[in-house]
Amino acid sequence: MKLNPEKIQAYCPEPVAVCLYDSIDSTNNEAKRRVDHGICLYATTHQTAGRGRRGHSFYSPKDTGLYMTLSLPLSESAANVQKITCAAAVAVCEAVSSLSGIDPQIKWVNDIYVNGKKAAGILTELVSDSDNRPRAVIIGIGMNLCTERFPEEFAASAGNLGDIEINALCGTVTAKLIDCYAHLDDNSILEKYKERSFCIGRTIRYTQNEIIHIATAIDIDDGGGLIVEENGTLTTLNSGEISIMIG
Ligand code: BTN
Repeated sequence: MKLNPEKIQAYCPEPVAVCLYDSIDSTNNEAKRRVDHGICLYATTHQTAGRGRRGHSFYSPKDTGLYMTLSLPLSESAANVQKITCAAAVAVCEAVSSLSGIDPQIKWVNDIYVNGKKAAGILTELVSDSDNRPRAVIIGIGMNLCTERFPEEFAASAGNLGDIEINALCGTVTAKLIDCYAHLDDNSILEKYKERSFCIGRTIRYTQNEIIHIATAIDIDDGGGLIVEENGTLTTLNSGEISIMIG
């Protein structure tokens, strides 16, 4: 499992600067330290301090997964982090489908599921310049490829994508991300997101203001929010974590 810049670039339709690391704290941290002007990819097969959403860590053991961050110039219309995350989820699923026999699903908002287990996660962040103006969006993606052993807290819920050639995956995800980012305003992105939803039509649980809610996931709105229904009342979730109720 060796990353190779030329092999990755061969999948990209436009020039992408590629920075590879044997090991690094976090590719999102590196992208933030560097704040690029163009499109830049940071990738590794080992992170010592991988980060997930809401302050969680992302387990990134050596040589069993791909951990990558694509830094893209921010445009006015592209500041909706939630929608960018939705587009990134579609990009990852399509890349995986095109390279393997599996068809992943998406658990709102950023989790990629295979056979009911989380096999990949996405962390989108904005990076500002010294004047505090958002300058770039960084999309971090952690993909378990052949990771089989997980820390106890994730053991029941974590899975993997299987044995996909790492450079093909890295290059194809990058190319699909660039394409989805360029078409953020197309309805087709959210339609594709909904088609792959692991949540819509299911009973979910979430906590808001310390109150536990049990609701049915109904739809995704134009900004990537999750519309849920509880006792006849519709609510749109734009942050937080949901869990799917089984049975
Ligand atoms: C999540 O599951 O909450 C999101 C996980 C995102 C992990 C990726 S791995 C590459 C990039 N670097 C990080 O530190 N995080 C993201």
